[in-house]
Amino acid sequence: MDYTRTLFIVLVLIFHGSTGIISYDGSDLILDYYRERCPLVEEIVKRQVEIAVLRDPRMAASLLRLHFHDCFVLGCDASVLLDNNGDMVSEKQAGPNLNSLRGFEVIDKIKYILEETCPNTVSCADILAIAARDAVSLRGGPRWNVYLGRRDSLEASFNGANQFLPAPNSSLETLITNFQHHGLDTRDLVALSGSHTMGKAKCLSFRQRIYDENNEENLYYHKRKSIFRRILRSICPKSGRDTALAPLDFMTPARFDNHYFHNIIQGQGLLQSDNVLVTQDLEGEIRKHVWTFANNQERFFASFMNSMIKMGSINVLTGDHGEIRKNCKFVNT
Ligand code: HEM
Ligand SMILES: *[C@@H]1O[C@H](CO)[C@@H](O)[C@H](O)[C@H]1NC(C)=O
Repeated sequence: MDYTRTLFIVLVLIFHGSTGIISYDGSDLILDYYRERCPLVEEIVKRQVEIAVLRDPRMAASLLRLHFHDCFVLGCDASVLLDNNGDMVSEKQAGPNLNSLRGFEVIDKIKYILEETCPNTVSCADILAIAARDAVSLRGGPRWNVYLGRRDSLEASFNGANQFLPAPNSSLETLITNFQHHGLDTRDLVALSGSHTMGKAKCLSFRQRIYDENNEENLYYHKRKSIFRRILRSICPKSGRDTALAPLDFMTPARFDNHYFHNIIQGQGLLQSDNVLVTQDLEGEIRKHVWTFANNQERFFASFMNSMIKMGSINVLTGDHGEIRKNCKFVNT
């Protein structure tokens, strides 16, 4: 798989170099994919995301994460939306997703409306990509043009979801390797981690980080004022209350801004995977990105848009691969 992908990229680059005609954005996606097929699609998705976020502000974060968890397992193909059915083992019950991933009903409602407006036309994978963009821009983040034309998978990967979605106690090395596997570099890792400028995490996701005295990251953290840790410990006791929530960005929890980077510079990221960007980067390259984004929100936004487009084109299905599902929960029969 990696080999054919590399070969493909090399061929495209050679072609590109010799003709200058093909513009390669990492996939076969295009901006105007639905212009003729379903001109109202972006309008409809935006309206529904607005309604959902008005009702539940956290939904913006949840929709952004849904697209990420789709793209990191098999590619951006809506595999994350499939339910258990026959031989199909849903990704929804994998460790990183279970009792954690949210927003399915919002996507299902959008799909329902789109099937009335333009039947058999808009993929669930494209809905996820557009909804993620709208969620970010609704909370004050940047707004980018979404490349479209993804098709939906015929399969899900429960094992892939357990293997490829990064754990909150990952080391920096693990995070770098994981992102690399998806064709994303260290700047993408830092920019996309900035998504943790909104939304919440369960006690279960950050308990190790506030109690484990032995881990390297905590040694650094213990030197800081302990008020932050005390607050987190009051939300999340040593045992029990696994599902109690804390904001990922305690400064501006509902806004998409660059405060996340201020937080981690002060050792006050919620997850260990946030703090290791500063504490475990011995070469300083990653830390440099963190400081750039902390000092300049425009630079963060520009990189974030770029990285979202990259993430949104991971292993997409186009042409006659996959299908356009009628119901995002099930493959067509
Ligand atoms: C770098 C590796 C990453 C790790 C280890 C990680 C891990 C996590 C964890 C553990 C949670 C809390 C889940 C819970 O407790 O229920 C979370 C929440 C979240 N993550 Fe990440 N994440 C990473 C990267 C990303 C990326 C790349 C994005 C988006 C592009 C993202 C977007 C979010 C959002 C928006 C939330 C809040 C969701 C909500 O409130 O419903 N994360 N992440
Ligand atoms: C991360 O957490 C998991 C689940 O709680 C645990 O099994 C694993 O040992 C932890 N890994 C590290 C590096 O601490």
